[in-house]
Amino acid sequence: MKRFPVAAGNWKMNTTVEEAAALAKELRDRLDRLDGVEKIVCPPFVSLVPVKGIITGSSIKLGAQNMYFQEKGAFTGEVSPTMLAGLCQYVILGHSERRQYFHEEDRLVNRKLKAALKAGLAPILCVGEKLEDREGGRTEEVITRQISEGLADIPNPGDLVIAYEPIWAIGTGRAATASQANETIGLIRRVVGGQCGGAVAEGVRLLYGGSVTAANILEFVSQSEIDGSLVGGASLKAGDFTSIAEQTARAK
Ligand code: PGA
Repeated sequence: MKRFPVAAGNWKMNTTVEEAAALAKELRDRLDRLDGVEKIVCPPFVSLVPVKGIITGSSIKLGAQNMYFQEKGAFTGEVSPTMLAGLCQYVILGHSERRQYFHEEDRLVNRKLKAALKAGLAPILCVGEKLEDREGGRTEEVITRQISEGLADIPNPGDLVIAYEPIWAIGTGRAATASQANETIGLIRRVVGGQCGGAVAEGVRLLYGGSVTAANILEFVSQSEIDGSLVGGASLKAGDFTSIAEQTARAK
């Protein structure tokens, strides 16, 4: 089965509203006519509305970086699936920075996944091991737990995308090797298959993330199991993200 490749930019806690609008305009001008890859931008919450205004009518899709699982109510500071459903197609869930700094665990990520799917949002579920897990030979165990608990009681995960982001490779300039990433992503596909069945596993798009640049993207997207990338730092530069998307389209 041919899976449609992805280049997704996670802007994290960067850009003011004005800067986000300027970046979105530049990306629209450069990327709108690029076929053969799904381009997704995930700006901060406060910039979702202006960025949506800028990319509406273009081929660029919009994603949020997080959400809470409740639909509404007294949850000060949180953003609900219902709020996002009218705005964007995608939502990143379980990013390692959420797990590390905001103590999000697999059970919470699972509730968020269910809520996103119910609201018609496509989740981008992030998984990845710490350096000590990799060095201690626990990568498989950690990834298997994150996937099986994250996807618990979700037999049909819709347009789910999963990003494998080894924590030691995020923002460090130390990317995984393409073959390391391909191997772990192959494991993720098998775990998804065991849990949701072969058809879901065949169709789910699996991305690599962690120090992806315009210089190394080709190695990753040349791998059989890797369907694209979730890009942090390099997605803040229109030229770099454009190059990443172009190389992905060409390679796949
Ligand atoms: P990075 O971040 O590309 O800056 O390493 C990737 C991510 O955390 O999504």
